[in-house]
Amino acid sequence: MRPDLVLPADSACELMKRAMLSKAARAKRQSIIDACRSMNGLGINQGTSGNISLRDGDGFLITPTSMPYDEMKPEDIIEMRFDHSVVGDGRPSSEWRFHLDILRERADVNAVVHAHPIHCTTIAIMERSIPPIHYMVCAAGGDSIRCAPYATFGTQELSDNALAALKGRKACLLAHHGMIAVGDSLRSAMWLAVEVENLAHQYVNCLHFGEPPLLTPEEVENVAKRIANYGVYSAPK
Ligand code: 13P
Repeated sequence: MRPDLVLPADSACELMKRAMLSKAARAKRQSIIDACRSMNGLGINQGTSGNISLRDGDGFLITPTSMPYDEMKPEDIIEMRFDHSVVGDGRPSSEWRFHLDILRERADVNAVVHAHPIHCTTIAIMERSIPPIHYMVCAAGGDSIRCAPYATFGTQELSDNALAALKGRKACLLAHHGMIAVGDSLRSAMWLAVEVENLAHQYVNCLHFGEPPLLTPEEVENVAKRIANYGVYSAPK
């Protein structure tokens, strides 16, 4: 073969990967990239500090580590198994542990969105949970958005803390770090991520006046019953 027709190993691998992805697989991976871009567009994340995963067969798809979203292509999305193995090459998000643990432990969850939204992170730096200041707190499945204790990013300790803070809930804060929102679809997880950042913004504003009054446990219970089928929860995936 003519030497100028021999592709370097890297690009040969890239071309093979591209050819192997089915239309459906490509669309699924593209939906993750679109959600990443929309996180930044919506102002709930900046740079490459967030990451997203989506259940896929008996494993999951996850964003690669530290890759700018506007450069990300479907082939760059990483496929992982629950035994911690990576299918093919590429480096998954440094937060693959909590993505994996949440998807493995929570059958109700198909998508995990992690970001560093400014107001959520402000509250998380103060090591506070978001109490029932507004009835929309109940959209995350309880009477507060818990704040998981601090642990170094990418560690099993952080994953354990996140999982505990998410018990019975669909969102949590991570102390001195950011926020996680989960959902039965990427659409619902993204929706909740925006709602939680909105609640955090409201809470930060309230704190300028002092400690805000809270909804009563009776009212929280009342809302919890009504909100279960609200909005994108009941929408087709
Ligand atoms: P990745 O770029 O590895 O996904 O990490 C960003 C981050 O949010 C770490 O918490």
